[in-house]
Order: sequence, then C-alpha cells, then structure tokens
Amino acid sequence: MILVLNGPNLGRLGKREPDVYGHETLEDLAALCRETGKKLGHDVEVRQTDSEAELIGWIHEACDGRIPVVLNPAAFTHYSYALKDAIAQRTAPLVEVHISNPAAREEFRHTSVVAGVATGTIAGFGLQSYVLALQAIAEMNITS
Ligand code: DQA
Repeated sequence: MILVLNGPNLGRLGKREPDVYGHETLEDLAALCRETGKKLGHDVEVRQTDSEAELIGWIHEACDGRIPVVLNPAAFTHYSYALKDAIAQRTAPLVEVHISNPAAREEFRHTSVVAGVATGTIAGFGLQSYVLALQAIAEMNITS
C-alpha cells in the first residue's frame, strides 16, 4: 500500500487557479493515482486535508506502519517545521511532489523545508508528478 497525501487547498483542484494547477479535480487525481497503483501492483489510498495537525497525524501513521508516501504538502512545504519533524521520523520512502514548479514561481515558493527529509522531489509535471512519484516508489526499489 502507498499513501498519497495532499495538503491545503488541493481539495479545490479544478476550481483553483486552473492556469497554474489545471482543470482536473482531486477526484480525477485520486482516480489517476489508484489506476497507476493498480498497474504497478500496489493499493493506493489518496487523502487531502487543509489541517496541518491532520496531515502530521497521517505522516505518523505512515511512520508507524512503514508505509511509503507520496506527499504534496502544498503551502506547508514552505514553512511547516512541524511537518518536517514528522517526516524526519520515517523509515519508508517519501516522495515530495508538486503539480507546478515552485522554483519557477514567487520567491517564497523557492524554499522547501520538507525536501531535505524526503527521499526525493518531483515538481512541475502537472498530475504526472504523482504518476512519476508512484513509479519511483514502486520500480526503483528505494528503501528510504
Ligand atoms: C503546490 C505548490 C505550492 O507552492 C502551493 O502552495 C500549493 C501547490 C503544487 O502542487 O504545485 O498549494 O504544492
């Protein structure tokens, strides 16, 4: 099983700044992730929250269960040291993903406080960022 976790405002995909994030909804994203998981032989569970506490709770669950994670921390990427500290406890792979390329956007998006405790980061490929992250976890046999 692989958890795909999404942070704040990603429940608004489709309505939210479609020029930046596209027209597909969170449900479209969830279907794409589940379909990709099926091809790769993994169950995929997709969740979204606007709450930092809830997201940290899910990371704790993944840490305790040694469950691999694809994480789009959304705006928490740029300032949540609490999320960073939660991710630092992991022993299974965690891939940070972004739909847009934060490095090509406003200055505050150039910093990720999460990147240094992730296995790696995939950004800028739209919803395909999630597909690439799931493939990385499933195919590259990464263990941390
Ligand atoms: C995002 C990029 C973040 O800077 C932003 O706050 C988001 C979405 C992305 O997927 O491109 O909410 O993580």
